[in-house]
Amino acid sequence: MVEILPSLLAADFAHLGEEIAKVERAGASMLHVDVMDGHFVPNFAIGIPVLESIRKVTRLKLDVHLMISDPDRHAPEFIKAGADHVLVHQEACVHLDRTLRMIRNEGALAGVVLNPSTPVSTLSEVMDLVDHVLVMSVNPGFGGQHFIPNALRKIQALAWKRKELGLNFAIEIDGGVALDNAAEIARAGCDWLVAGTSIFHTHDVAGAFLELERTAREATLARA
Ligand code: DX5
Ligand code: ZN
Repeated sequence: MVEILPSLLAADFAHLGEEIAKVERAGASMLHVDVMDGHFVPNFAIGIPVLESIRKVTRLKLDVHLMISDPDRHAPEFIKAGADHVLVHQEACVHLDRTLRMIRNEGALAGVVLNPSTPVSTLSEVMDLVDHVLVMSVNPGFGGQHFIPNALRKIQALAWKRKELGLNFAIEIDGGVALDNAAEIARAGCDWLVAGTSIFHTHDVAGAFLELERTAREATLARA
């Protein structure tokens, strides 16, 4: 079943607990948490103390997107702080095989992220080590950017590769996801759609979540 993952980057940080409660009540099963170090990406966001606080107020799975330069060094701390899924960037990992194995050994699901300029083929040797692959549909670092359409081809390529290899990793997308592209994304073969602005920058957060979910799920009925 296709899932929508609200991205807390777009939430009101002064009322984070209430924002989380809104999407939890609306039926979300996972939350996307963006971590930025001002080095791998030109911005700062959520660190360990905030993640620990989030962990205390929700039972939803926490999908933690590490936009940091040294994920090897820091991933275990994020798992200890409550991350259920840890996503590392292919571009930040010199020893990606080792990093993915380490995340699984530490007890989290291991995800890998591809920037818009990074091809799917860079993952060919680690396909069996990933629990989910996230395709960036914007250049990471900021919410509210425009969707880059090459992500759709990458989603299709991953779905095809997964079938060919008989694997079952989840395919995820992040950046510029909204009502006007959710159906197309789901039809391309995406399982998890991260959405920040299109959920939290609305007057009705729960309604926006449900509308996106309905749109994406209906589109998968047409999926081959
Ligand atoms: C961007 C982050 C995203 C961000 C998406 O670097 O990784 O998770 O929150 O925000 P929207 O949905 O606003 O593009
Ligand atoms: Zn993200």
